Amino acid sequence: MKLKSAASPAVLFSLLLLAGCASVAPAPNYDALLAEMMKASFRAQGIATVDRLAQDASNAECSKSEGKALTEARSKAIEAANLATVKMPAGGSFIGDWKEGEKLAQNGRGMTWTDASAATTANGGNCYNCHQLSKAEISYGTIGPSLYNYGKLRGVADPANPAAKPIVEYTWAKLYNAKAYNACSGMPRFGHAKMLDEAQLKHLMALLLDPKSPVNQ
Ligand code: HEC
Repeated sequence: MKLKSAASPAVLFSLLLLAGCASVAPAPNYDALLAEMMKASFRAQGIATVDRLAQDASNAECSKSEGKALTEARSKAIEAANLATVKMPAGGSFIGDWKEGEKLAQNGRGMTWTDASAATTANGGNCYNCHQLSKAEISYGTIGPSLYNYGKLRGVADPANPAAKPIVEYTWAKLYNAKAYNACSGMPRFGHAKMLDEAQLKHLMALLLDPKSPVNQ
């Protein structure tokens, strides 16, 4: 009993590694082992299907780099490929209703197996889980930068003003496909992955850029 509890998984793992070195066994294919483990760890239930485990080329390249920075050329290539997926809104109007945007930003619901169907549960944006957005929030995540005063700081006094065009377009593309400006971004690609539709993205744009939104107070 004693021996069993003393041999922690970490110790056993080190011993296995040592044994592996001693016999000069060929290195296991860790990528394949990890893929197998992931496959065995999740099952499809309801609308939460396991095709989410399949990475696209950009995600796969970022995973392979194991946290190390990609070369500038590869980063630029991934960003260009992702920027090319961005659909600008029809009619050229980017701004919806910040009140709807606020509800979306604070809503982490959607895409889970406890949601009856994608048709009955609209996805939230879950922004609050990674970003600060307003002074009124009781809690928020800090994986992403604070977006408090985003529009004010970026110089968007009036999003309808033509002078604001570059930041309005940048913000739209960032929400649509975050990898367009950061190859290995950890932010969900809301438009690209069809998590949020055009109207929802416009509401979030208003939340970030409308001078009346709580983000800019
Ligand atoms: C899982 C975490 C995560 C979620 C959820 C998330 N973001 Fe992000 N976001 C990040 C990270 C990390 C960055 C910074 C790195 C980067 O630019 O990709 C970022 C960057 C941004 C930027 C660019 C900031 C700048 O100064 O240029 C904007 C705008 C933004 N997020 C808006 C949103 C909105 C709106 C939502 C909700 C619809 C959201 N994010 C949801 C992680 C997240």
